[in-house]
Amino acid sequence: MARCVDVYGQFQPGLTARVSVEDRGFLFADGVYEVFAIFNGQIFDLAPHLRRLDRSLGALGIDRPMSEGALKARLAEVVRRNRVREGTLYLQITRGVAPRDHAFPAAARPSVVAWAKRFDFTQRLAQARTGVTVVSTPDLRWGRPDIKSVALLPNVLAKQQAREAGAFEAWLVRADGVVSEGSSTNAWIVDAGGAIVTHPEGREILSGVMRGTLLRLARAHQMRVEERPFTLAEARSAREAFTTSTTAPCIPVVSIDGAPVGDGRPGPVTGQLVALLWEEIARQTGYLPG
Ligand SMILES: Cc1ncc(COP(=O)(O)O)c(C=O)c1O
Repeated sequence: MARCVDVYGQFQPGLTARVSVEDRGFLFADGVYEVFAIFNGQIFDLAPHLRRLDRSLGALGIDRPMSEGALKARLAEVVRRNRVREGTLYLQITRGVAPRDHAFPAAARPSVVAWAKRFDFTQRLAQARTGVTVVSTPDLRWGRPDIKSVALLPNVLAKQQAREAGAFEAWLVRADGVVSEGSSTNAWIVDAGGAIVTHPEGREILSGVMRGTLLRLARAHQMRVEERPFTLAEARSAREAFTTSTTAPCIPVVSIDGAPVGDGRPGPVTGQLVALLWEEIARQTGYLPG
């Protein structure tokens, strides 16, 4: 657990930190969250995370609890107090604490909870060398997975299915066969023509910050990128596949439902993207994996 947690503006020891039972996040999953990566004590890609947070809050009609400057200062303080150099920062903002009633409360103030804890990113570099496996499962989520809401039950069930199958991730497949994304990652392939393909932004997926960063890097290096839907069948016959998220930045996928992708080893295009991403992490934060 984190050393300390900022609960509603007060720091509490991590082990005993408590929120109200009338918090609408607890009662209705009526809130949003962000997970940031910390390298070298600094928050990676802070600006796009804050933009997405703003979009999620706006989509649910939750008031911004404080100015951007105040929020940045609060997050930096959470990282500092937890003495995290490499790790993750979790931020949750709910509609607030109010007597249980489905409709929005008239007078609640948004509640803010945040903590930071250590995470060893070198394990991700090891996975980038070996690759990971995924299983497919139906996408059972509501119609707005583009909002980063704390209502994650279908994602939890999908991830558990992956764990029970010994896989790293579950790819969520819609009725038409299209792979939306992973349970907590975005899904990518390198198609038969060599293009890097990922689902377009829109209501069907969470627009990952790592997804955006990788697209930018790939385009800046003249790699061919297509934001278009792809099916599970196409993924199974793709040259390469990989997955991205803040905490799993670009990990090759070497098998889907037990069948190898390509030759069953991490491919060269994914390898180039992994290298570009870690260069970008070093550029922004000075972090060099030890
Ligand atoms: C459903 C889903 N898709 C994609 C992502 C990746 O987003 P990001 O790159 O911002 O971590 C996440 C991250 O939690 C997620 O939950």
